[in-house]
Amino acid sequence: MSTKKILVTGGAGFIGANFVRYTAEHRPEYRITVLDALTYAGNKDNLAGLDGVELVVGDVCDRDLVDRLTADTDVVTHFAAESHVDNSLYDPEPFVRTNVHGTFTLLEAVRRHGKRLHHISTDEVFGDLPVGSTDLFTENSPHNPSSPYSATKSGSDMLVRAWARSYGVHATISNCANNYGPYQHPEKFIPRQVTNLLTGERPRVYGDGTNVREWTHVDDHNAAVHTILDHGTAGETYLIGSSAERSNREIVELILELLGHQADAYDHVADRPGHDLRYANDSSKLRALGWRPRYGDLRQGLADTIAWYRDNQPWWQTHKTIAETKYAEIGR
Ligand code: NAD
Ligand code: DAU
Repeated sequence: MSTKKILVTGGAGFIGANFVRYTAEHRPEYRITVLDALTYAGNKDNLAGLDGVELVVGDVCDRDLVDRLTADTDVVTHFAAESHVDNSLYDPEPFVRTNVHGTFTLLEAVRRHGKRLHHISTDEVFGDLPVGSTDLFTENSPHNPSSPYSATKSGSDMLVRAWARSYGVHATISNCANNYGPYQHPEKFIPRQVTNLLTGERPRVYGDGTNVREWTHVDDHNAAVHTILDHGTAGETYLIGSSAERSNREIVELILELLGHQADAYDHVADRPGHDLRYANDSSKLRALGWRPRYGDLRQGLADTIAWYRDNQPWWQTHKTIAETKYAEIGR
């Protein structure tokens, strides 16, 4: 088995840490280095128990550090980002800095050193689809971002596409739908509702709760990233999605049921400005490379996720208190 080095930016966040865990378990040929600034969303405990993973605490906008780490790796997977839409509406500046300038910094480093890059992006760059339609986003859908978060992710995707075309950088992009699973920050929808119920609070649904999301288990996302690293074509974009579409109301009602509460025991709160209506991805291009979602049963995946939060209260308690203070300031 020949060893390869992989640099994982944002590897102490939700998806990045799950990627590191998945890679350590399933792909032992990789030697893993994580670059993470440990913002409010990053947590070195997410990597606890992993032998041989190096954590470098630093900023993806730090040119010299990124240059040095890129020179010393074979592959870069770029997860680092400011990731929460509500935060971007409240304070967009860190989103422009990390998501746009951070990606630029990394692109210049992989260009200088001729390294392989996989850029992790989101279906939010495409805007939204009508609720009730069967339309799907494809790799050719035009970008039409709604929030400062999705606008900066769109900017980062455009930089990657341009660096691939003009400089021949060996880069691929994936745009995934909403993820769920362990280690997700309690500011996000599913962990927020689960931890509300575990602390005796009621779930809080924005607006009428008819907005639809397509839920993909984080391990399915990370398996897709490996499929693209192994079989993807440089310069190409791949959409990742499970086809498990649910309205926010349906998700909250399922969480309530799984935790033994009445299905209507939740509150509607003020809607998110610019709130995207529906996301749904056509992932046939990725499926043609051999990827399939393994977590077909959303109910079981959610039950497992709820069990993880129930068993790991010390992991989320402080993060939750801080997140709820922020939510109280914006009335949601
Ligand atoms: P997250 O907020 O949980 O983690 C982000 C990580 O990046 C944190 O560990 C944070 O410390 C780190 N980080 C932030 N700024 C940094 C900087 N300047 N330098 C170095 N590290 C920095 O995010 P997530 O949900 O794990 O998302 C990871 C990636 O996946 C993002 O690019 C996001 O756009 C994308 N994505 C997320 C979802 C989802 O449902 N969460 C879906 C599709 C795509
Ligand atoms: O589609 C991929 C995107 O999914 C990623 O790019 C983002 O990083 C990730 O945060 C996620 O974005 P969303 O805005 O869809 O996720 P969020 O968890 O914030 O909200 C999911 C839905 O639930 C959305 O319609 C807003 C709603 N919501 C959210 C919260 C936090 C509520 O109704 N109540 C809440 O308390």
